[in-house]
Amino acid sequence: MIIDILTLFPKIFDDLFGYSIIGRAIDRNLVDIRIHDIRDFTYDNHHVVDDYPYGGGAGMVLKPEPIFETVEHITKGLAKLEVPIILLSPQGRLLNQKIVRELADHHHFILICGHYEGVDDRVAQHLTTDEISIGDYVLSGGEVAAMVVVDCIVRLLPGAVGCDKSVEDESHVHGLLEYPQYTRPAEYRNEIVPSVLLSGNHDKIAQWRRQQSLLRTANRRPDLLEKAVLSKEDRLFLKNAIS
Ligand code: 6GU
Repeated sequence: MIIDILTLFPKIFDDLFGYSIIGRAIDRNLVDIRIHDIRDFTYDNHHVVDDYPYGGGAGMVLKPEPIFETVEHITKGLAKLEVPIILLSPQGRLLNQKIVRELADHHHFILICGHYEGVDDRVAQHLTTDEISIGDYVLSGGEVAAMVVVDCIVRLLPGAVGCDKSVEDESHVHGLLEYPQYTRPAEYRNEIVPSVLLSGNHDKIAQWRRQQSLLRTANRRPDLLEKAVLSKEDRLFLKNAIS
């Protein structure tokens, strides 16, 4: 997989991608993350990337030319439609695990980090194929959002995490939050690990985990529960547990 990131602050990415799962995925050549400084595609002496908004108002707006030119530099010779060009902005569609899965199926995509008060709208209208937000709050720039997107996607690549199975069983994958996890010691500061987990009875463990997932989701994210696929047994359990 190839991920191109367009940014005004390329150094921000230096360290992050050196560690843990993303670092390992890069080492194993599962992903090539290429950082592009938008400022390199300016041709004036001062390398200006932003300007005042037409119509007035606070803040600066990113100019379209350096962004168009950086993207065209990347996509030269490529079949453009096959490469999603994604603007990261608070106005985008809200990222979720389903969108992450969709993106993980692409061999190549481009992320554009917005900044300042915004990006000239011609970028969203005529250059990008998608616009993504990571939540209903405002970041000072798209870099942190790009890191979030890259992290979610790269960990899904086969071979990126130690055990591919571990990404199949986690929060949000089946529309529910994950069950609680414990490791040794079995007793810590008088708190003991639920005995069913030490029982060796795998059917019982699976049932307990499913029920914990249901309870957690009901308590913390009832909005998710409404959309989740639940069995008759699940519904009966919830009805008894909640009443
Ligand atoms: Cl992608 N960018 C910015 N600047 N703020 C955000 C965001 C992105 N997602 C949520 N807030």
